[in-house]
Amino acid sequence: MTKPDLSVQVGSLKLRNPVLLASGTVGYGNEMSEFIDLNSIGGIVTKSLSLKPRKGNAPQRIVETPAGMLNAIGLQNVGVEEFVKEKIPFLKKYDVPLICNIAASTYEEYVECTKILTGEEAITAFEINVSCPNVREGGLQFGNDIKAVGKITAGVKAVTDKPVIMKLSPNVSYISEFAKIVKEEGGDAVSAINTLVGTAFNILTRKPKIKNINGGLSGPAIKPVALAKVLEIKRNVDIPVIGIGGIMNWQDVIEFMIAGSSAIQLGTVNFIDPTAAAAIIKGLEEFCIKQGIQKISDITASYII
Ligand SMILES: Cc1cc2nc3c(=O)[nH]c(=O)nc-3n(C[C@H](O)[C@H](O)[C@H](O)COP(=O)(O)O)c2cc1C
Repeated sequence: MTKPDLSVQVGSLKLRNPVLLASGTVGYGNEMSEFIDLNSIGGIVTKSLSLKPRKGNAPQRIVETPAGMLNAIGLQNVGVEEFVKEKIPFLKKYDVPLICNIAASTYEEYVECTKILTGEEAITAFEINVSCPNVREGGLQFGNDIKAVGKITAGVKAVTDKPVIMKLSPNVSYISEFAKIVKEEGGDAVSAINTLVGTAFNILTRKPKIKNINGGLSGPAIKPVALAKVLEIKRNVDIPVIGIGGIMNWQDVIEFMIAGSSAIQLGTVNFIDPTAAAAIIKGLEEFCIKQGIQKISDITASYII
């Protein structure tokens, strides 16, 4: 059999394979480039960027949990200006789709960040992180507010011609309702899921193990939840989905594609093995050869229920 075609399409976004690196787990790509050839992956998603630099939360910000981890980094990042000056020049050396993830405290900040960055040729697409507190609504997360998600989608789309992927929160009753509004407001795709709210206590001090009290749960512990959310979206809304949540190996990728993902992102696994993406891409190719699958994209939403 000839080499299988691993390329996938996420809306108008064409990727050489379905394996992307998730926001917040690979910085701006520079450290990762020491472990894997960035030109071999499907794409890289930056750490969430805000208009101004953010210091993030005080430690302890990360704790290991059974089959996963909790993090409350607090959106620490260099801000859009330094990103453009200091980080883009490095990323320009690579032929890898660059998806810029944006976080904000107000609707206007989402729009402003996108406006500033859209002129950068090196940026292929935007991923909008709505799992952020809305300062005008007393800290309620945008991602839990369906109207806010719709408004941000429309606002961001109005200032860029690049694909806009809305990254959905799993901490809602019906994630497909959120995917529906994204589609209605012109969003190109959704990524699902961001982390689940969780906490953990030290039994001797009786204090939370995370200074922020709550953190975001990620890793294999959330994989079944993420798969169910991808499937729920795919069965209810005709929009491309990028699956995220606890993917550790190529078998997990196939499972996410069957459930409806056009592409996937690797998060927590990068901390365990920064070379995981390379092994996963190789595993996907071998699987396709063994199964006689010519085009990996044929697996997307091939579930039988
Ligand atoms: C330490 C850490 C930092 C993260 N930071 C961000 C972030 O800045 N923006 C964002 O959209 N998601 C962020 N995420 C969420 C991941 O991109 C991903 O959605 C989540 O971890 C689930 O995937 P996983 O189980 O493969 O890690 C972060 C996750 C971790 C573990």
